[in-house]
Amino acid sequence: MTLPGSPFLSWRGQELFLENVKLADLVRQHGSPLYVYSRRAMLAALAPYQRALQGRPHLICYAVKANSNLAVLQTFAQAGCGFDIVSAGELARVLAAGGDAAKVVFSGVGKTRSEMAQALQAGVKCFNVESTAELEVLSQVAAGLGLTARVSLRVNPDVDAGTHPYISTGLKGNKFGVAHDQALATYRRAATLPGIQVVGIDCHIGSQITDVSPYLDALDRVLDLVEAIEAAGVTIHHLDLGGGLGITYTDEQPPKADELIAQLLAKIDARGHGQREVMFEPGRSLVGNAGVLLTEVLFLKEGEQKNFCVVDAAMNDLMRPALYEAWMGIVNTQQRSDGTLTWDVVGPVCESGDWLGRDRSLAVQAGDVLAVLSAGAYGMTMASNYNTRGRAAEVMVDGSQTWVIRERETVEQLIANERLI
Ligand code: LLP
Repeated sequence: MTLPGSPFLSWRGQELFLENVKLADLVRQHGSPLYVYSRRAMLAALAPYQRALQGRPHLICYAVKANSNLAVLQTFAQAGCGFDIVSAGELARVLAAGGDAAKVVFSGVGKTRSEMAQALQAGVKCFNVESTAELEVLSQVAAGLGLTARVSLRVNPDVDAGTHPYISTGLKGNKFGVAHDQALATYRRAATLPGIQVVGIDCHIGSQITDVSPYLDALDRVLDLVEAIEAAGVTIHHLDLGGGLGITYTDEQPPKADELIAQLLAKIDARGHGQREVMFEPGRSLVGNAGVLLTEVLFLKEGEQKNFCVVDAAMNDLMRPALYEAWMGIVNTQQRSDGTLTWDVVGPVCESGDWLGRDRSLAVQAGDVLAVLSAGAYGMTMASNYNTRGRAAEVMVDGSQTWVIRERETVEQLIANERLI
């Protein structure tokens, strides 16, 4: 049985292991549903980014939204990464995990004044500003505090990343970024504002991108702008090319990070921009295939039209299938040799959209532990408490060692902030 995209997952006999840890045992110890991540897989995914950028000024800013567990952030902080954040909450996580504010870029189309102030006081490296209106407010907040906001404009290069419409961000019709034809005027404006210092340019065109060409197109558009902006007398120090590199969920063949970066750097050099600091904001490609969601089979319901395998994880634990019709691999952590049927793997939540996988061929019995693969990114971070379901526990694996890096949420915690009238 193949395990798409997950080099640290393996079969030992009939049992599924992550590194040296038998996954079914983790559920016995810590309950179900359970997110499990491989620390080595994360570092192995980071290595090609680091290798490709070695020897030139660069910063890899892990996109916290992909997986914001403190131990995950700690792993990347210790490996030298900076962070891409989108809220004061994510900033607090980075600082709690030992991350360096001076390596943080603050992205997002709707930063509040209070979030701007917190980020300024923490001393973040850069605000990726997405509109003129945001720029004006940031100027007021910074000047009011007697601080300077270092900014990049997130420019919208109007290229099609060829990905799911919900996670495509670089097209004219998206809410993200400053339109390409407005960018020069906005940079000119930025250069005149108190409390603002222009330091770079930023672009992020989408997520789960499996081709190099949209990146190269976007880079050309960005470099055109850099040349125009500098000709107008505003200096650009860094190029932030965003995140978005895809992973293998099933049979996708995204470029390897080092190959992608080599091509981008070649273009940067060829166009005479080799002296600039280069930044990336990868999320999914660092953590997606490092994690699985383990879930126990509650009941099997064989029907006339469909067979349902009811598990104890649901759309509140892993939203990607319900929200994007995302296909994520599902395997039994203890392979059975007989009784394979086609199942819809569904959760207990009261919605027909509550499924984790449809029409999956599985040999399964009640009590088995299934693993949803490639669940390290946008799994736990998008979990909710719908149906008053506490969020899953999380475990980190490194070799044979395991740590509970987040306790399972209790009902007491869920209702603690509520009051009777
Ligand atoms: N930088 C910015 C400004 C972003 O908006 C994002 C992701 C990233 C970096 C990281 O992108 P990545 O390398 O992870 O593709 N929930 C969706 C994905 C949403 C991505 C949002 N922005 C999913 O589960 O597929």
